Parts: sequence; C-alpha cells; structure tokens
Amino acid sequence: MPDHKSRLAVFCSGTGSNFKALHRAITEKQIDAEFVLCISNRSQCGASVYAQIHGIPVLHIRENQFPDHESFSAAMLSALKEHGIDYLILAGYLRKIPDLVVDAYRDRIVNIHPALLPKFGGEGMYGMRVHTAVLAAGDTESGATVHLVDEVYDRGRILMQQSVPVLPGDTPETLAARVLACEHELYPRALEKLLGERKAGYGR
Ligand code: GAR
Repeated sequence: MPDHKSRLAVFCSGTGSNFKALHRAITEKQIDAEFVLCISNRSQCGASVYAQIHGIPVLHIRENQFPDHESFSAAMLSALKEHGIDYLILAGYLRKIPDLVVDAYRDRIVNIHPALLPKFGGEGMYGMRVHTAVLAAGDTESGATVHLVDEVYDRGRILMQQSVPVLPGDTPETLAARVLACEHELYPRALEKLLGERKAGYGR
C-alpha cells in the first residue's frame, strides 16, 4: 500500500454531491488522501464543474468515443496510471467500470449505492429507480451502502451501511433526499476507515 497520501480518482455522472462531501472531508483532514483526477462521462455535469473550480483535472471519457471496448478500457487505464491513482472512488457514476480496470485496481474501487445492498441493486438499479422500487416493495427502511466494486454490478464486498426509515407518505423524491443526506455522512466515514486500515496494513 502507498506510503504517500492516497491519490484518488473520482468517477461521476451527475450533481456530485457525494464527491463534494468527500472533498470537504479531505479538506477538513478527516480523510488522509487527495483527489487528483475527476473522470466523468458527462461534460459539464455538476461534479466536473466542481472539480474544475477546485483545480482537479477533469477527463471526459465515454465508450462511444472509441472504436471498441478494448481501446476505451485501455485509455481509461492509461489515464489512471498516468495520474498515479491508488483508488477509484465512484460517486454517482452511472456506467460500468471496464473489467480490465477492475482487474488492475482489484479491491481499490469503492462505490456508494442508495439502498441497503444486496437489496435493490444490480444492472439498471440507480438513482430514482432504486427509491421507486423500495417504495413499491413496501419496505419500512432503506439506506446507503458503501462497497468494493468487482465485475458484477453492486456485488462487491460491503464495507459499511447505514439505514434510514421509510416514512408514511414518502415519494421517491422525499426518500431520495433522506438517503442522500445519509450518504454524505456515510461515504466519508467508510473511506476514512478503509484507507486507515489499509495504511495500518490490516485492511484488505
Ligand atoms: C447517489 O444517490 C448515489 O448513491 C447514486 O447516485 C446518486 C448520485 O448523487 N448512485 C447510484 O445509484 C449508483 N448505482 P450525487 O451525484 O449527488 O453524488
């Protein structure tokens, strides 16, 4: 594991409120790491604008810019190597990380999911769809999960979870807001723990 400050690449597709919460935790020295690259599939999304304002290089990269999956994977991997990235932090990134990249960064890719995995995960389960499904199932609680990423959507080892109640009269929007507030607290805590354990040499 690195003896330097961990170098993080954040992956985003949207608002980036989790990225902002993590960035704040780093600025406040809760997490001993630095964001050195922001990768986004959507130019000018909130997350990439925030990164630019804070002097973090932004790379817009989408699979359809490349002739095939292999060259897309290789370009992403080469950008990560070039920036000396130690960990990939997914924060509302709505694309699958290529297998080649997963393999190169095994156990060093972290994601946050807006439900209590393994419930309400898998392909197509993201954003508001998750909250709609939780309400349709009649569950009385939901929450957020921070987990490692492997080749299958939302299957990697769970690092930390936090639950929130589902309240009578909830809409997908009100539930999403409650879960998101929980994510902003959970993600920094989970990343602090993971990086702390890895640095101490007993995490995996
Ligand atoms: C968050 O709720 C995150 O858990 C979810 O997208 C939102 C991004 O918000 N991610 C997924 O659904 C991934 N399966 P943000 O851009 O404001 O952090």
